[in-house]
Amino acid sequence: MPPLARYIAFLTTLALASAQSCPDYLDYALEPHGPYSGGRYNLSYQRPRPECRTIQIGDVDAETEIIKGKIADPDLRQLFGNAYRTHWILLSSRRPPPPPILPSLHNFQSTIADRQRQDIEAMWLRDSANQMQSYLPNLVPSTKNNSLASLYRGVINLQARYLLNSPYCNSFQPPVESGIPPANNTSASDDTVVPPYNNQSVFECKYELDSLAAFLEICTNYWQSTNDTSFFGKYSWISALEAVLDVADAMRTPTYAANGSVLVSPYAFTRETTRATETLANDGIGNPVQNGTGLIRSAFRPSDDATIYQLFIPANMMCARYLATAADIVDALGSYDVLCKRMRDMSYELRQAITKHGIVNVPGHGQVYAYEIDGYGSQNLMDDANIPSLLSAPFLGYLDRNDSVYQNTRSLILSAQNSYFMRGPVISAVGGPHNGPGYAWPMASIVRIFTSDDDEEILGQLGMILSSTDGLGLIHESVNSFKGSDWTRQWFSWANGLFGQCIIDLSNRKPEILKASFQ
Ligand SMILES: *[C@@H]1O[C@H](CO)[C@@H](O)[C@H](O)[C@H]1NC(C)=O
Ligand SMILES: *[C@@H]1O[C@H](CO)[C@@H](O)[C@H](O)[C@H]1NC(C)=O
Ligand SMILES: *[C@@H]1O[C@H](CO)[C@@H](O)[C@H](O)[C@H]1NC(C)=O
Ligand SMILES: *[C@@H]1O[C@H](CO)[C@@H](O)[C@H](O)[C@H]1NC(C)=O
Ligand SMILES: *[C@@H]1O[C@H](CO)[C@@H](O)[C@H](O)[C@H]1NC(C)=O
Ligand SMILES: *[C@@H]1O[C@H](CO)[C@@H](O)[C@H](O)[C@H]1NC(C)=O
Ligand SMILES: *[C@@H]1O[C@H](CO)[C@@H](O)[C@H](O)[C@H]1NC(C)=O
Ligand SMILES: *[C@@H]1O[C@H](CO)[C@@H](O)[C@H](O)[C@H]1NC(C)=O
Ligand SMILES: *[C@@H]1O[C@H](CO)[C@@H](O)[C@H](O)[C@H]1NC(C)=O
Repeated sequence: MPPLARYIAFLTTLALASAQSCPDYLDYALEPHGPYSGGRYNLSYQRPRPECRTIQIGDVDAETEIIKGKIADPDLRQLFGNAYRTHWILLSSRRPPPPPILPSLHNFQSTIADRQRQDIEAMWLRDSANQMQSYLPNLVPSTKNNSLASLYRGVINLQARYLLNSPYCNSFQPPVESGIPPANNTSASDDTVVPPYNNQSVFECKYELDSLAAFLEICTNYWQSTNDTSFFGKYSWISALEAVLDVADAMRTPTYAANGSVLVSPYAFTRETTRATETLANDGIGNPVQNGTGLIRSAFRPSDDATIYQLFIPANMMCARYLATAADIVDALGSYDVLCKRMRDMSYELRQAITKHGIVNVPGHGQVYAYEIDGYGSQNLMDDANIPSLLSAPFLGYLDRNDSVYQNTRSLILSAQNSYFMRGPVISAVGGPHNGPGYAWPMASIVRIFTSDDDEEILGQLGMILSSTDGLGLIHESVNSFKGSDWTRQWFSWANGLFGQCIIDLSNRKPEILKASFQ
């Protein structure tokens, strides 16, 4: 890898001096702070005090102010300003920075832990790719060499490093150069995982197909916005890509050989736990998968919960879409024809396979996409809030939202026919087994906006999002659909970034919506 100095050129401002006296943002986000929105929801202001903002990314602040100027409603304006920018602090460790040269560094991103409200200092491939995507609107060619572009390159390089070492894993430890010690994960330390991994560099090793797709996504996003092809010819990007493809190919292995003998699964995982979704059936290989569908298995979902049937359609959609665009990068580099063809072929095969095996007929709804299948005819008809989901298929760029099978699927997902669609007076939205029945996820309301052209539907979703922050002015992970004061995670950074991205999207697509009042 190249000198670290390259990665940290993006750090334009650092508040070193005060880090010690700043509150942990997880505590800060639990309390309301003025100035309040002045709207009916009296939303709190949630940006850290200026001296506690550990990183500033060039144009994001200016962009935020411009968009705020377009929002008429005081609560919506406050929520956008909070959600889009509290993201910043995510880019650094919440610890006091070690020696001045490299505080917080390397684009190491954390995500918030569980309902105990701990912070996990680990980097998820999916979350980091998606958090960067929130800032994509600010990444324009003319700013190719600005701090945001450097940040993108740093995250891509760091992900590549992780994938080269442990391509089956989903979440990683801080890079050694950061000086942040590896996080202790006591539950993960008892996991039995094939292939084995090193817990000094890996935080948790759940194999999730969408983690691999997330790498293709962030590379696509950077390249399509900057046309910076040369970056991808450097370092170990090509090798990391090959590691991704090798895992994808290996995970097409079915359970049985043609003669009936049980094949060795390339991946297995068991954990001692009381939660069924935290371990895999059949001593770690999961429920049997039939040969010949062409789909790629996923042991876990983007919620980090186990799949029931491993042919998980949304991640296969995401792979199909981003393999094709990442292949364009390889094509632009020249001299990697075999690799490029391998990616395009796989993308094509996945599309064929999804259409052939992933669409099922449901009385009353017609042809719909299944959430998961096993190739034997079993299917799981549901959707989960976490992206990739079926609801997000157009957001992923896999299909157009007018696609008739998608529209059928959408009407099923957003109805009581979806076993994880939560309904109630506080918020009605898709949830999932991660937090269980009763908890609706605002993230799914945001995805609903992204995938809708219907003003009434969009306004309805915005109203629910605004009214379900419990006055705190940040997007929670999930909210009890009957009791607004019962929620999980005061600050779910991925959803906050996504909400900001959604408002920016509306400012381009439907500017009149931002003039609406929710009072
Ligand atoms: C807004 O909330 C804050 C914090 O709970 C409270 O002090 C303040 O009185 C509220 N303002 C209004 C107008 O309700
Ligand atoms: C980016 O800008 C820095 C300083 O502004 C400069 O040293 C560096 O060479 C530039 N890099 C590229 C790729 O243009
Ligand atoms: C993890 O646990 C080990 C042994 O108990 C301890 O030495 C180390 O400091 C802990 N690391 C963190 C980040 O807490
Ligand atoms: C790594 O695994 C070893 C052996 O199970 C354990 O003692 C140690 O605490 C783990 N370290 C971390 C950082 O989880
Ligand atoms: C270990 O990681 C899992 C998965 O994120 C999490 O549920 C668990 O709380 C973590 N344990 C600790 C001690 O951090
Ligand atoms: C990238 O290059 C292509 C082909 O030269 C061009 O069509 C496209 O507009 C460029 N995109 C950006 C963001 O500069
Ligand atoms: C799976 O099916 C493909 C073609 O459908 C075939 O080439 C391959 O040998 C089969 N593998 C097993 C293990 O049955
Ligand atoms: C069955 O097929 C597998 C995979 O092709 C092979 O490894 C194994 O030796 C075969 N077993 C028997 C009993 O023929
Ligand atoms: C989707 O359908 C709507 C309404 O029928 C239409 O206005 C829009 O142009 C269509 N979009 C595409 C991409 O076909």
